Amino acid sequence: MTGPALDIVEFMLTARVYSDNRELDPGDLPPPYRRAFWSADAEPDESTGRPAPGGIERPLSVTATTITEATGYGHPWDAISGLMFTEKKDFSGAIEFTDLGMAEKWYRERTTAERLLSNPTLALYFEEDFEGVDYETALARNRPIHADRVWIDSLLEQMFDEEDEEMLDLVEVRAPEEVEMTLDDLVLTADQEGEILKIVKAIEHRDYLASIGLREIGKLLFVGPPGTGKTTSARALAHDLDLPFVEVKLSMITSQYLGETAKNVDKAFEVAKRLAPCIFFMDEFDFVAKTRSSDEHAAIKRAVNTLLKSIDEISLIQDEVLLIGATNHPDQLDAAAWRRFDEIVNFPKPDHQMRADILRVITRQMEIVDFDPEALAEETEGLTGSDLRLVLREAVLDALTEERTTLTQGDLEDAVAGFEERDNLKNMDMMNGDPDALIAGNGHDSHSHDHDHAHAHDRPADGT
Ligand SMILES: Nc1ncnc2c1ncn2[C@@H]1O[C@H](COP(=O)(O)OP(=O)(O)OP(=O)(O)O)[C@@H](O)[C@H]1O
Ligand SMILES: [Mg+2]
Repeated sequence: MTGPALDIVEFMLTARVYSDNRELDPGDLPPPYRRAFWSADAEPDESTGRPAPGGIERPLSVTATTITEATGYGHPWDAISGLMFTEKKDFSGAIEFTDLGMAEKWYRERTTAERLLSNPTLALYFEEDFEGVDYETALARNRPIHADRVWIDSLLEQMFDEEDEEMLDLVEVRAPEEVEMTLDDLVLTADQEGEILKIVKAIEHRDYLASIGLREIGKLLFVGPPGTGKTTSARALAHDLDLPFVEVKLSMITSQYLGETAKNVDKAFEVAKRLAPCIFFMDEFDFVAKTRSSDEHAAIKRAVNTLLKSIDEISLIQDEVLLIGATNHPDQLDAAAWRRFDEIVNFPKPDHQMRADILRVITRQMEIVDFDPEALAEETEGLTGSDLRLVLREAVLDALTEERTTLTQGDLEDAVAGFEERDNLKNMDMMNGDPDALIAGNGHDSHSHDHDHAHAHDRPADGT
């Protein structure tokens, strides 16, 4: 039996067991329970090993509000008021067991091993009573507390005050639950899958690697053209490994707060270490090389040097931080930047087979009449995963203009043709190219300035 009553009784029982057993810490509670009991002004719980303002204080008091927060059921009292062992206190709103023994028995008769394995607190409590239930397994399956949004927020709040606003421009932290894509949504090459598997194994066997003195592991550089899935893969990895995702936007280093930049880079790494285990993602990594070779502002150079030094000092094995850089200009990276990564992962434009697979993945939830991904793959040579998504979006929007939500292969083919047109436009030199393109009706897409012809501005436009 499942349903509201069982979920709610489980929640209440967990709160009760947790309150009574001081050896349990917040990491032993399922994430939605932690969120329900999290209090921003609680004394930090030392048992999590990391200071964070706020936390979870005993005793956990169950009310309709916490039940709804943790289980998602509105009017929870209605679901359990018929049980003989529950009561609701009129004054405080507390919802409690009148008879713990009865509640326990009721729950034990209805729960399953699978359920208990997703609740370390109860797994420990009922370990003896259930075949295949043990605390260690449940704990390993439970998402660690440092990956919770509430925990991340309170840590950031503690580390940065209002004056540090520029810091928040530079770093963005996502909880794994906030990442929408998973590795399953991505079509990867065998090589990419191999690299990802290696990293997963390295994280799993961290202690072993440390014991044999292998520390130079856990710095990846994703290299490939725009739209080939570099950012998405890094985030999906965070999602699938349940790790917080710390993203540093390197281009922000050139923002207006130059004096503070080096300090901010330091702080970004500190955030990562405090959130560890986590993924630290640096997009636009070529920015680093660019600033070293050009005559940039001294403050920027200082920041970039700090960055390189911090990269050297951080380690997956010691600090539990997996570092991922991404670039679509590998040619611009100098030896100093290049040498800091131990694995280079290539993100090529997808080949025929991958294009067909990407089309299958991105249309998974859709109904398409006469869908033939192989034929479309044939027509889309040179397009990236991101391009294919755009194609699909156009097809969907075009169909909607005809009030249709069922697509056909023809819609997709039209969208591919439309995409090619757009692509031609993008690659056209607006100054020297076909003057017809500048006449309204033929093309008025301001995106055409995207690609930079360095001298285009210096020349007077032909034909004007
Ligand atoms: N191999 C792929 N399989 C499935 N989807 C893909 C693939 N490659 C790209 N996409 C889709 O294209 C979109 C853009 O990808 P993403 O932003 O990760 O590219 P990127 O390599 O980081 O590009 P950039 O270099 O511009 O930052 C995502 O929504 C992603 O889902
Ligand atoms: Mg990207």
